[in-house]
Amino acid sequence: MSWNTKFSEDARAIEASEIRELLKLLADPTVLSFAGGIPDPELFPTADVTRIRNDIEGNQQISREAMQYSATEGYLPLREWIADRHNTDNLELDFGNILVTCGAQQSLTLLAAALMDPDAPIAVADPTYLGALQVFMTRRPNFIPVATDPDGVVTSELEKAFQAGAKIFYTIPDFQNPGGMTLPLERRQEIIELAHKYDVAIIEDTAYRTLYYDAPPPASLLEVEGEFLGKGKWQNEGLVIQIGTASKTLVPALRVGWTIAPKALLDKLVILKQANDLQTSCMNQILAYRLFSSILDDHVLTLRQVYGERKDAMVKALRQYLPNNVSFTEPEGGMFVWLRLPEGLDARKLLEVALAEDKIAYVPGAAFHAKGGGDNTLRLSFSTCSPEDIDRGMKKLSDLIAREARRQVA
Ligand SMILES: Cc1ncc(COP(=O)(O)O)c(C=O)c1O
Repeated sequence: MSWNTKFSEDARAIEASEIRELLKLLADPTVLSFAGGIPDPELFPTADVTRIRNDIEGNQQISREAMQYSATEGYLPLREWIADRHNTDNLELDFGNILVTCGAQQSLTLLAAALMDPDAPIAVADPTYLGALQVFMTRRPNFIPVATDPDGVVTSELEKAFQAGAKIFYTIPDFQNPGGMTLPLERRQEIIELAHKYDVAIIEDTAYRTLYYDAPPPASLLEVEGEFLGKGKWQNEGLVIQIGTASKTLVPALRVGWTIAPKALLDKLVILKQANDLQTSCMNQILAYRLFSSILDDHVLTLRQVYGERKDAMVKALRQYLPNNVSFTEPEGGMFVWLRLPEGLDARKLLEVALAEDKIAYVPGAAFHAKGGGDNTLRLSFSTCSPEDIDRGMKKLSDLIAREARRQVA
């Protein structure tokens, strides 16, 4: 009996993630990995987590609340904190615009269920976050990949996607995963104008927004839209839905994320979440709320400093060692650098050699492309490696690329 014949069309539409399969190979502790894109566990605020857990357990009323079923929308103080944190005079957000989700990944799942139909055109950056492509794939849409340059999505190409009928655009404007690009303010303004011209909903994923290393990124698309529409209009006329997460700044294991949406959409998302998992763990929401409201700002300063040093080390090493015909993005935040190898060099094949001969790992870029391409691209993450390991790893990788390029010519 083959289960394949029994799978639903939705289940058949989703395939194993190349990255997750690859990560299995990384169990080997001798491999120096630039593949993950995960926070450094040494930077987790473990002492604060323990202290706050003890506080919760020491208070009978709070600890009972934490253990009980709770409202699907989320823990009220956390919703209020998120609304305050993202509010502007124009937007007039309140807790009724916030749904707490099981990570930003569930925000994507719920939005896909609420907004995406089979065959409907959906604009996504080329490349974009693989986890989003995977979720959207279950809805069997018609992806329209939009070309990017070192500043992110090219707006003239985005307009073509809107003209082709895309009614949804998914984007990571700040320090994109996987490309590391950040959209300049002018492009953000153009995107909002285009969205309103063509009536396109925008899913703005802010997973890395607070992890900037020099200057903060430009105003978010949500903020730009608030300004574009004017005071108090977003609730009825807004097209931007913003999603965020505690995973990159606190700890991924909390599985706390959120969606900021106009109320009419939020109500639908709440029903979908109810059907999906009833609620996000109240224990984790209370923990997230207390961590956010006590240590977040200080903790993020540490993350910015440590990750910033690692980013500098990677950029410096790549500048020093890479052959001239390889280009790379220089991110201003986040966790990723994106490499473009000479045409004809296949990053997947190169990875096999990198793992076997040099014991280094990265993620081949093809996986991040909705409709293929990008065989000569790859993603490097600097978040979990020391500057010394980064220097050593980039030297090995650069030598390998030069060696393979020579072998190809010979
Ligand atoms: C751009 C982006 N969005 C969303 C997520 C999912 O995050 P979460 O842990 O909140 O589900 C990730 C995780 O890597 C990500 O890179």
